Amino acid sequence: MNFVQEALPDLYLKLSFKYKLLQKVPSLILMIFLISIAFTTKASATETKPVPYNAEKIWDKTCFTCHGDSSDIARNHLKVVDGELQGPMHKETFRNFLTNHYLSKSKADAIYSMLLTQANNKTRFEQECSSCHKSAKEFVYNKLDLNRGDLYSKETTTPTYNFLETHRDLSKEDVVFFMKQLTVIGYEIYLPGLTE
Ligand code: HEC
Ligand code: HEC
Repeated sequence: MNFVQEALPDLYLKLSFKYKLLQKVPSLILMIFLISIAFTTKASATETKPVPYNAEKIWDKTCFTCHGDSSDIARNHLKVVDGELQGPMHKETFRNFLTNHYLSKSKADAIYSMLLTQANNKTRFEQECSSCHKSAKEFVYNKLDLNRGDLYSKETTTPTYNFLETHRDLSKEDVVFFMKQLTVIGYEIYLPGLTE
């Protein structure tokens, strides 16, 4: 497209040079051409842009009563295989299943992305921490405690946030990421009434 756009003015110059009488014709063609470009790019832009659904809201309204917290399902019951989600019962057909399970197609896509992100969170702990700490749930259960919403070490009583800042060269974002995940698990273990 760029190539054609760059070539057009040259072409236009040459033509008007040679055929002074036809001067207006190429400029007309050029104008029509440019207008049609403007229209096609605009049309395709609106076609490809998905309607932004708030997946968390949809989940809370339509799915929560039967399934509880979405990240809990994603982390503990769904698997990521080659970048695609699989359920415990619907494996290769998982995406189809979602579309036929209380959801329209576009809303199912939004829910799918949310669950995939949440399921990948599990994978990150498994990838970066599980070689030494096994499952996040077991780790929190055995090593950490929850006091007024803050995690701390059962053994040394060091706040987990402070500990993580000096553990494994984690960046500030990483610390926040893992703190969120571990804290949610802490709530599930120590204050299950709040998350059910
Ligand atoms: C009225 C209760 C109910 C509601 C509401 C509900 N589900 Fe389900 N869901 C079920 C039952 C029962 C199953 C297990 C049977 C099955 O696989 O069809 C299930 C299974 C699932 C599974 C696991 C699929 C697998 O591979 O086993 C997922 C994921 C899921 N639901 C997502 C959702 C989402 C997303 C919503 C909201 C749009 C939702 N559910 C709303 C009852 C419900
Ligand atoms: C190579 C092994 C190894 C890896 C990988 C590892 N850790 Fe650790 N971690 C340890 C050891 C050993 C301790 C014991 C305490 C120490 O280092 O002083 C520990 C302690 C901890 C503690 C404190 C436990 C307590 O008793 O308070 C937390 C929290 C923690 N790790 C989180 C993580 C997270 C999150 C990751 C992944 C990003 C991770 N660790 C990856 C080895 C590891």
